[in-house]
Amino acid sequence: MSASDCVQIGDATLYLGDCREILPTLPKVDAVVTDPPYGLGERWTGGTWGSNPMYAEAREWDHPIEPELLEAVLRAAPSSIIWGGNYYALPPSRCWLSWRKSSRMETMADFELAWTNLDRPAKEITEGRNPDGKRDHPTQKPTRVMEWTLGFVDQSHTILDPFMGSGTTGVACANLGRKFIGI
Ligand SMILES: C[S@@+](CC[C@H](N)C(=O)[O-])C[C@H]1O[C@@H](n2cnc3c(N)ncnc32)[C@H](O)[C@@H]1O
Repeated sequence: MSASDCVQIGDATLYLGDCREILPTLPKVDAVVTDPPYGLGERWTGGTWGSNPMYAEAREWDHPIEPELLEAVLRAAPSSIIWGGNYYALPPSRCWLSWRKSSRMETMADFELAWTNLDRPAKEITEGRNPDGKRDHPTQKPTRVMEWTLGFVDQSHTILDPFMGSGTTGVACANLGRKFIGI
């Protein structure tokens, strides 16, 4: 990896590249808060999304991540919060997080789930899909949902997101003055 593929902005270290190559080079962090591809692939062609070029683009990358990569993500930190965890074979969990979408669409999920390995009660937030009216990424999470998610991790902890997409986890960390590593 060349120096130009890694930039430091304030408390954020950002890598441009494939997390399969970058993860093994990183030291262990405190917590992973991430949102890997759900593996919907060709199913993005259905419903009301198929005709939108931004959603069509998701077919290129929305393949399920390999079990070895999921294991590497889980090994990267003692605490893990994985949005879309319901798409993966993860251990039983006491604490699932739910984002209930206040704006519903017939062909989209009414809610999204995050698997965690936290020993605390399951919780839910209600938020629109697109509260600020802008989207840069087909599966972009609302900043408020990611800020709420970070509330489940100690304030002193460095957060790693290996699948940062448009970077919502990093924006949420910056807004909350938290240390962040994103790929
Ligand atoms: C569900 S999206 C994350 C969306 C993000 N939470 C947001 O709010 O924008 C998953 C992202 O992981 C990226 N991705 C897929 N495989 C990757 C890999 N091996 N290394 C790094 N990123 C990857 C995809 O390009 C996509 O942007």
